[in-house]
Amino acid sequence: MRRVAVITGASAGLGAEFARQLRAEGYELLVVARRAERLAAIEGERWVADLSGEAEVERLAAHLASRDDIALLVNNAGFGTQGFFAETALEAQMAMHRLHVLATVRLTRAVLPQMLRRRAGAIVNVSSVAGFGRSANNVSYCATKAWTNAFSEGLWLELQGTGVSVQALCPGFTYTEFHDVMGSDRAKHPRWMWMDAAFVVEESLRNLGRLYVVPGWKYKVFLAIWTKLPAWLRLRLERRSPNGKGAPGVIN
Ligand SMILES: NC(=O)c1ccc[n+]([C@@H]2O[C@H](COP(=O)([O-])OP(=O)(O)OC[C@H]3O[C@@H](n4cnc5c(N)ncnc54)[C@H](OP(=O)(O)O)[C@@H]3O)[C@@H](O)[C@H]2O)c1
Repeated sequence: MRRVAVITGASAGLGAEFARQLRAEGYELLVVARRAERLAAIEGERWVADLSGEAEVERLAAHLASRDDIALLVNNAGFGTQGFFAETALEAQMAMHRLHVLATVRLTRAVLPQMLRRRAGAIVNVSSVAGFGRSANNVSYCATKAWTNAFSEGLWLELQGTGVSVQALCPGFTYTEFHDVMGSDRAKHPRWMWMDAAFVVEESLRNLGRLYVVPGWKYKVFLAIWTKLPAWLRLRLERRSPNGKGAPGVIN
């Protein structure tokens, strides 16, 4: 039986690592990104598409819905911005919401019916530790990743007993191209906070079937405490962080 894994944002970082590890596990790949020359290095079906555009998402979704061999969908494509919401380019904020939220909705809706028919399959939504926080300079990113968590939780409830699983993968700082694209200096954050993409993807795939996957014990401990705090205290602490004072910074 063919097992096809669809990976968005496979031209770099975590997506490229998902492609490498899933290929090694015997999956056939359907990889998506805007940079064709990067996808060319990956063996499998390649879709060159800007997933922040409605028509291109629709074209891919219709294709996925017409097939019956999609075993895994990794909604991974994403990016961050720096700056106060009212001052950053509106188009980048709109594109982020369309990519992180609407493309995830559309592609997930495209593959779930066939997975439910076969009573097998998995969705991995790449979220972030940032989905549990709010941050000045990082408003849309935190909001869209919080949405990713809420969307995954809702699906998890609906998918009980169906044979289909959903995961919200919540990494902290990871070495990829993410911070280069955003123009953020990695050196602002201590080395111990950084993880390799290979480790993050291993943790995700090892824990398929689990709703929340937070790679690395440091981030697990941090979130175990952070998510117990009342909103007023969490926001007070966020205000005191370097970001709260307006310096571009903790974005992942
Ligand atoms: N790195 C971190 O510290 C970190 C931490 C937590 C969560 N994450 C999340 O991990 C996911 C992957 O990011 P990464 O760290 O691997 O960053 P990355 O190395 O910059 O890779 C991002 C990928 O997304 C693709 N992409 C971006 N915009 C796209 C668009 N409009 N349409 C289609 N593809 C698009 C890029 O491909 P093209 O440019 O070729 O289109 C690239 O393949 C993101 O959702 C990010 O929010 C990252």
